[in-house]
Amino acid sequence: MTDPIIQVENLHKSYLMGKEAVPALRGVSIDVARGEMLCLMGPSGSGKTTLLNLLGGLDEPSRGHISIDGENVVAMKEEQLARLRLRKLGFVFQTFNLLNNFTAFENVEAPMVLSGQFRRKARKERVAMLMEQVGLSDRMDHYPSELSGGQQQRVAIARALANDPPIIIGDEMTGDLDSETGFEVMRLVRRLNQEQGKTVIFVTHDPRMAEFSDRVINMLDGKIHTETTQRMGE
Ligand SMILES: Nc1ncnc2c1ncn2[C@@H]1O[C@H](COP(=O)(O)OP(=O)(O)OP(=O)(O)O)[C@@H](O)[C@H]1O
Ligand SMILES: [Mg+2]
Repeated sequence: MTDPIIQVENLHKSYLMGKEAVPALRGVSIDVARGEMLCLMGPSGSGKTTLLNLLGGLDEPSRGHISIDGENVVAMKEEQLARLRLRKLGFVFQTFNLLNNFTAFENVEAPMVLSGQFRRKARKERVAMLMEQVGLSDRMDHYPSELSGGQQQRVAIARALANDPPIIIGDEMTGDLDSETGFEVMRLVRRLNQEQGKTVIFVTHDPRMAEFSDRVINMLDGKIHTETTQRMGE
């Protein structure tokens, strides 16, 4: 593969439960092309979330190598990892994880305040632009509790885009949504992939959502079980 934006090599992860090591990943290697939309599937406990957490530097592998946009993640200290997460990765979760005491606008603005990448005026303009991109210009001053699930997830997507990261990581981002709302969210993410070249890695249990991807990797017992290319280069 030419120019992979994510390279994972022989990744292993065991969690320590008391004295016992529980293996979660047992030698996973994946290259993700720049601009690819990759779907991870597989039964509960097969290691999908573990893999996403390792990619985002949220946890440390037992062994193996990860590089993100040319940077060696495994060697990074916490401060460098925090910077990597802010600048290179946008996370979208199943349960939205918005800050409940912040408006939609403030939720989207927060990662920009943290990164310091934009000055105040540019930041405000950017939040408005992102809210428009996700179709919520008329909901900027709403609190999460005043938004539907699909709207909350779109705010979470705008937040993931705040610092213009090249990569979006989604863990069951449609899992808590009804199927029509889930489709809307997937269409939005696919549009960001196709129009803005965002690289996307997402986990789903729903084969209908998997169809939005270029490639599906099926995991089983901490390993890659099968891999299906759907329409790479479309
Ligand atoms: N913090 C932890 N401590 C101990 N074991 C863990 C921990 N997190 C995950 N595991 C174990 O690692 C394995 C992989 O879990 P993981 O959460 O990655 O699965 P998953 O594929 O995301 O499953 P699901 O589809 O249910 O979300 C499982 O056997 C799980 O029990
Ligand atoms: Mg999971």
